[in-house]
Amino acid sequence: METVNITIDSRKIQVPKNYTVLEAARFANIDIPTLCFLKEINEIGACRMCLVEIQGARSLQAACVYPVSEGLVINTQTPAVREARKVTLELILSNHDRKCLTCVRSNNCELQKLAQDLNIRDIRFDGDSMKMPLDEVSPSIVRDPNKCVLCRRCVSMCKNVQGVAVIDTTERGFKTLVTPAFNKSLDEVPCTMCGQCINVCPVGALREKDGTDKVWEALANKDLHVVVQTAPAVRVA
Ligand code: FES
Repeated sequence: METVNITIDSRKIQVPKNYTVLEAARFANIDIPTLCFLKEINEIGACRMCLVEIQGARSLQAACVYPVSEGLVINTQTPAVREARKVTLELILSNHDRKCLTCVRSNNCELQKLAQDLNIRDIRFDGDSMKMPLDEVSPSIVRDPNKCVLCRRCVSMCKNVQGVAVIDTTERGFKTLVTPAFNKSLDEVPCTMCGQCINVCPVGALREKDGTDKVWEALANKDLHVVVQTAPAVRVA
């Protein structure tokens, strides 16, 4: 295997030539925060939480998509890097529905953990925020755009892994949204309800619908009476 020599946080290491800076850091047990990154599924450099300083580069770079090269010098913990990550997270939080106490992902939320790790104690940028209706018509999945952090993990999972492709990003800038086409409900598109989008969502923007377990159980038992009785109740929950 071809390798390259790099210096990361003053440590000289040798890593495979096809590594990214993030992979090299993890190889060296150096922690770099990530949010949108999902190995081999979503490597798009969208969230900028993984910013690092690369000697010679004109600006901070996203470690998850920056390839290593011979002689590369990387710093992952300079004041500029820490401040950039913190401001990035504060901007994400400024447009996030922060009902953490009642969120199904509380204590299991990557955004919450990042906020703790980066010692965010108040919301500096409390400006406009998106107020979107919940998409809860699907019998099994609830989509809450107000909690979406636009990491696009669900998009990649749905499109590239499951081959279903019923959700994608729409609009641009502040209005960017992850949604089924034409802002339809998940119930109006050929969603297979596989639930993999929920599995990869780092926050509570996608979740299982309460009572869904009863529908699946009844389906497994071919108890159509219960399915018919339960499904409408689930739909209006
Ligand atoms: Fe690298 Fe999101 S984790 S840009």
